[in-house]
Amino acid sequence: METLILNENEASKAAKIIKSGGIVAIPTETVYGLAASAFDFGAIKKIFLAKGRPVDNPLIVHIAKLEDVFKVVSEFSEKAKALAKNFWPGPLTMILPKNDQIPSIVTAGGNSVAVRFPSHAVARKIIELSGVPLVAPSANLSGKPSTTRFSHVLEDLNGKVDALVNGGDCKFGVESTVISLLEDTPRILRPGAITPEQIEKVVGKILIDDSVFNKITDDGPVLSPGIKYKHYSPDAEVVILKGEKEDYSDFVNQAGSEEKGVLALCFDEDISLLNVPYISYGSNSDSLFQAHNIFDALRKADKLGAKVIYVHYSESGGVSLAVYNRLIRAAGFKVIDLKK
Ligand code: TXA
Ligand code: MG
Repeated sequence: METLILNENEASKAAKIIKSGGIVAIPTETVYGLAASAFDFGAIKKIFLAKGRPVDNPLIVHIAKLEDVFKVVSEFSEKAKALAKNFWPGPLTMILPKNDQIPSIVTAGGNSVAVRFPSHAVARKIIELSGVPLVAPSANLSGKPSTTRFSHVLEDLNGKVDALVNGGDCKFGVESTVISLLEDTPRILRPGAITPEQIEKVVGKILIDDSVFNKITDDGPVLSPGIKYKHYSPDAEVVILKGEKEDYSDFVNQAGSEEKGVLALCFDEDISLLNVPYISYGSNSDSLFQAHNIFDALRKADKLGAKVIYVHYSESGGVSLAVYNRLIRAAGFKVIDLKK
């Protein structure tokens, strides 16, 4: 199919396409999203097809005015209100009880719905002009790294959707923090740009779901269905290495002397010690900048023909939990601690 390429000033054209049942990739402050009306079953089906997304993985509904949350949910608790007051518009998604209007394809048949109020001006304009809340999963082929540059969106979706809106680079570069408010104690299901520390300051004690750190192996109930699937994966094998820059560079240089296609996905501080091809994703102390670059770096590694990507990771607070969560999924949980 022919895909229309729009610029940031053409929000009304994007909204018109959505209103007539089309699907459009739009920029947000986190990653690009693939948007359709949250009430249009046919359009939502097209999203699942274009992405190759499993239908049991529910979608986030995006609003552009606080009062529109009631077009989506049946209850908006005091804790939810406090979180909205502090973090909306912005990169926080809340899981809340759904209302009867939201079609079950959005929630994969479940009784809860994910809602987000993005801060990106163009995203908000498109939602407003569409006149309805919009579903928008990340605008990548299912299983691939999320799209954070317009070139990524072109690569994955040109020819598969009605239109793409070019909004340049996404500010944060990792998806929103997903927090469930279905139990008394809020529970983080996916870490993102809003950190657990920031959230605790507003609602007190919170839980971080085990799935954020560990592979879910049993057949028990899955709170966030998305975590079951292979995620963020470049074509190359990904392995995470934890340790000092000397340990990291020794390991990677040794691997590079023994096998072909080794690529170091490293910090700026490692570069001078490496004698294999590398891509840096920022300074080891700047997790915001790492988040901004991580998906782009994984995509670039494939373009360079890497067979094995050794990623250097070290915990540096802030959004580094979100970066780590994406990396362990890209790596299929292969993590080597060089200190042990
Ligand atoms: O930043 C973001 O959140 C981006 C932008 C485009 O807004 N969207 C995004 O959507 O990351 P997606 O579909 O790639 O990821 C949504 C995640 C999935 O892991 C999904 O399983 C989870 O949210 N999710 C959606 N609805 C849910 C629900 N009712 N209960 C639990 N998890 C849910
Ligand atoms: Mg996604």
